[in-house]
Amino acid sequence: MEAYLLEYGNVLLRWLHVVAAIAWIGESIYFVMLDNSLRPPQSAEGKRRGVFGEMWGVHGGGFYHNQKYLTNPAELPDDLHWSFWKAYTTWLSGFALFAAMYLLKPGFYLVNPGSSWAWAASMSGWQASLLAIVFLLLGWIVYDQLCRRISPNMERDGVLSVAVAVMMVVVAYLSCMIFPGRAAFLITGAVMATCMSANVFFWIIPGQHRMVDALKAGREPNPLDGKRGKQRSVHNTYFTLPVVLLMLSNHYSFTYSGPYAWIILSLFIFSGAAIRQYFVLRHSGQNKLAYPVVGVALLVAIGFLAAPRPAPAPTGQDAQGETVSTAQVMQIMHARCVQCHAAHPTQPGFPAPPAGMVLETEQGLLAHPDLVKQVVANNYMPLGNLTQMTQAERDTIAAWTAPQSKP
Ligand code: HEC
Repeated sequence: MEAYLLEYGNVLLRWLHVVAAIAWIGESIYFVMLDNSLRPPQSAEGKRRGVFGEMWGVHGGGFYHNQKYLTNPAELPDDLHWSFWKAYTTWLSGFALFAAMYLLKPGFYLVNPGSSWAWAASMSGWQASLLAIVFLLLGWIVYDQLCRRISPNMERDGVLSVAVAVMMVVVAYLSCMIFPGRAAFLITGAVMATCMSANVFFWIIPGQHRMVDALKAGREPNPLDGKRGKQRSVHNTYFTLPVVLLMLSNHYSFTYSGPYAWIILSLFIFSGAAIRQYFVLRHSGQNKLAYPVVGVALLVAIGFLAAPRPAPAPTGQDAQGETVSTAQVMQIMHARCVQCHAAHPTQPGFPAPPAGMVLETEQGLLAHPDLVKQVVANNYMPLGNLTQMTQAERDTIAAWTAPQSKP
């Protein structure tokens, strides 16, 4: 019952998280589009009031006329629309989900007995959880320091972009070496998402508060507050597309289970950033096709890198030259898999068979023989090797040829 309630809570939390993220990202994309679509004001009235740029739009059966002032509009109404709760809700619900699925159950997804770094392979559950939190905190601290030191007043933003890109490759590499692929992709996405929310919390909103306070007191706002907020806001738009992809990646184990996981992860980030760059320029009237071409080329490269290696055709025989029977494989399923993959799992925390995969009967096994062979061969299953499958058992499954394998 408890496991069921947790699972139900998980669904509700995920729903909240996705809706908040859509609202935040949608608004953020809208404002980038607005900013890049501004044209000098047409009317004498607009010019007189110091309008910097304006955009006319039609949507939902009505016409809209947006006008942007830089830091000092002549008057400021009290009911100014702020956007920040969407960002905070996204991060808080995302962290709660991460805690429920990963930090509190590190044995399933966070510990990586297959890591080639011995200290990482032998980490205990709580150490892995602690390290995951350190990744998020340190990610923000390093990113923030890069911004402060390299381009505090937006004067060297090009160099800063390169530094942040290098930082993300390092995060991708470290997380893929330390954590299982699934968690590594998520944690790298969460590092970016944490930087995004922290940008809103520590820079964009406080800067805007100072600007509004100055205007209300009749002082000229400090233009640096506007510039710095803009810098962080621009970074956020670069992070958006990769973050969304990384949050969805857990459904696609082929992306994170192979030997090139960290390269694939880095290429996904660059591809998302390149595609985003195209749309930003597009809004300002430039059609720079090189960006989507690079983005798509990276995606094609990922397609090759993530493709299954051509494994030697199963011999059908084990190391002793004996034919591997399906009954032998079923024995292994019962020893290592049915704790979770049963109609009624005995593994605490699993109210239902994960991924709908029931491996208690031959019929269940033979419904997905190739998938079973794949996840056993790339060490994705058993999760966190909780049931301590041996290499000999993996070899046996690799050698097995399933009867009536589906084409
Ligand atoms: C500790 C629980 C646990 C054990 C033990 C376990 N699994 Fe899984 N399995 C899961 C979970 C959770 C998922 C869903 C993972 C996901 O959503 O990526 C899963 C998913 C799968 C999938 C679907 C993967 C996909 O990409 O769709 C297969 C196949 C699978 N397991 C096979 C096995 C086999 C074979 C074994 C035994 C060698 C095994 N599992 C042992 C928990 C477990």
